[in-house]
Amino acid sequence: MTKTKMNNYVINTHCHVYDEAFDEDRDDVVKRAISQGVTKLLLPDIDSSSRERMFSLAGKYPENCFPMLGIHPTSVNENFQVELNAFFEELPKREIVGIGEIGLDLYWDKTFLEEQTEVFIKQVAVAQERKLPIVTHVRKAFNETYRALRSMPSQDFKGIFHCFSGSKEEAFKVIDMGFHIGIGGVLTFKTSHLDEVVKAIPREKIVLETDDPYLTPVPHRGERNEPAYVLLVAEKLAFVLNCSVEEVIDFTTGNALSIFSL
Ligand code: NI
Repeated sequence: MTKTKMNNYVINTHCHVYDEAFDEDRDDVVKRAISQGVTKLLLPDIDSSSRERMFSLAGKYPENCFPMLGIHPTSVNENFQVELNAFFEELPKREIVGIGEIGLDLYWDKTFLEEQTEVFIKQVAVAQERKLPIVTHVRKAFNETYRALRSMPSQDFKGIFHCFSGSKEEAFKVIDMGFHIGIGGVLTFKTSHLDEVVKAIPREKIVLETDDPYLTPVPHRGERNEPAYVLLVAEKLAFVLNCSVEEVIDFTTGNALSIFSL
């Protein structure tokens, strides 16, 4: 069998272009991405404070910007019930492509591990009920996240471990659970061992992202990241896998389409 049609556009599976960092030039940034072939931008949610901006951007570019709903782990504190209520209130009202970004983050603070876990599990369960993919944020909390997911009654998972920067062993655990691996600007950093990871895992499991405005790829480190820079990640991935950028765009877009209904 020969595959005749290649995917010739890029799906950036993780951008926060609704962030305040883009308040001055958001339209330019979105249009710049689209004009370079990065025509589908997936928008993971953070919390109730950024939600309006995210949905209004998605409303303005319905063909290009696709919102999610979720509570970021660093937005979980002693008032987490307020955020959960807001999440459950929005859920039936919004058209979303996934639940995210959700997960565990113990980098800044371990105080709310229990609360983070509760909020995470509840949102994963909602995603499973609604057959939506999840976008998972894990920082200094791989084992805790793995345990939380493995403890769930349904082991039917679909989605992305976003901005993956773990080991090969961790990558295979993620894949075994049914998830894809989100690769972003970290791949372009000299200090990263991510090239060894992407060489080891199946191509079918890799998707592209930027996580803008953060984690800006080389050669723009230190500047604001933006959705179009996902092409720099695609170029680096092509170099690491010793294939063409067109091939990388084709298979990563195909992989993203196997996760999300866009
Ligand atoms: Ni993010």
